[in-house]
Amino acid sequence: MDVGTIKQQIPESWKAFETLFYNSLSARYELMKEIINYSIKRTGKQVRPLLGLLLAHALTAEEDNTGRGGAVNDSAIRCAVASEMIHTATLLHDDVADEANMRRGIPSVRSLYSPSASVLLGDFWLSRAVATLIETKNFDIFSCFARSIEDLAEGEMLEMQKTADLETSYDDYIRIIRHKTASLFEATAASSAYAVNAPAEMVNAAREYACHLGLSFQMRDDIFDYSPNLNTGKVPGSDLLEGKITLPLLGAFASSSKEETNRIKEKIRSLESESASETARDRNASIITEIYDFITEKGGIEYSNRILSEEAGKAVDALSVIPDSKYRQQLVSLAIYVGSRTI
Ligand code: IPE
Ligand code: IPE
Ligand code: MG
Ligand code: MG
Repeated sequence: MDVGTIKQQIPESWKAFETLFYNSLSARYELMKEIINYSIKRTGKQVRPLLGLLLAHALTAEEDNTGRGGAVNDSAIRCAVASEMIHTATLLHDDVADEANMRRGIPSVRSLYSPSASVLLGDFWLSRAVATLIETKNFDIFSCFARSIEDLAEGEMLEMQKTADLETSYDDYIRIIRHKTASLFEATAASSAYAVNAPAEMVNAAREYACHLGLSFQMRDDIFDYSPNLNTGKVPGSDLLEGKITLPLLGAFASSSKEETNRIKEKIRSLESESASETARDRNASIITEIYDFITEKGGIEYSNRILSEEAGKAVDALSVIPDSKYRQQLVSLAIYVGSRTI
């Protein structure tokens, strides 16, 4: 099942999410308006708001005899909107950190306008997220997102620190993706549970589900970097060019000797920047192909898929305390989608 089909299961709350999201984007000045319009040209998959709204339905399904899911109230919609805004902000900031030229298959705001425009637009989205949340008047919700914004920045910074020395261990990798990706999934889920006044046990289950879902989501993204045959909208090989050691490479290192590992790290160090000459780009391409072959030979993709499936399985297990409903089923479908998505 894809995200589009899952969204169709919650038509009313999804419509409310879209309405509030698009109504919150007004700006006063021309350049800001122009860049906002550009940045929403390609919407993403909107997985985080989908996760939040499905949980709000699942946690209130029992209260509603129609089986439509009960109190998906204004606060739950606001949490979903704020989550997508924070996510959009982090992508704008991330493209500056990664010097990325493309986002969602088109030139990034960083490359089309400037790094400063990308940072400032990211700040604008963050402030709109805060303004959207204020109306909930709920301190539990505020603290979920405050924590997550801090985690996001720390996760990106830790990744930067580890990239500089190519010494990322498996534990470092999990810590990085937990902060930079799973944290916002977790905040989205927990805030949604708070929005519908769910009891503590349900808030914890929502958190745990989302954390494992977020980890597997990022693992899938990291596999994309080594999947030139998938049309994911991402540029394969970018992580290597950025000097990032992610799960497929860690998997390959796990079954390699110290010498082999060091030889590959040396290759990564020798990659040149994107703006390099054509000769350098050709050299990069041949090094990247060599690293792909190393990962294939060492089973790095299979290793990653195995860990990803374990995470997706833990996400589904966490749902067991939530009463059964068609929304809980959709949360299971979401975990299956996240583990196998091709975009
Ligand atoms: C991209 O997130 C960044 C990661 C955490 C991997 P998404 O894949 O959710 O991005 P969009 O919003 O759908 O483009
Ligand atoms: C995405 O991280 C940004 C955050 C999760 C904060 P990446 O750099 O790994 O993802 P892409 O590939 O640019 O989307
Ligand atoms: Mg990036
Ligand atoms: Mg990044």
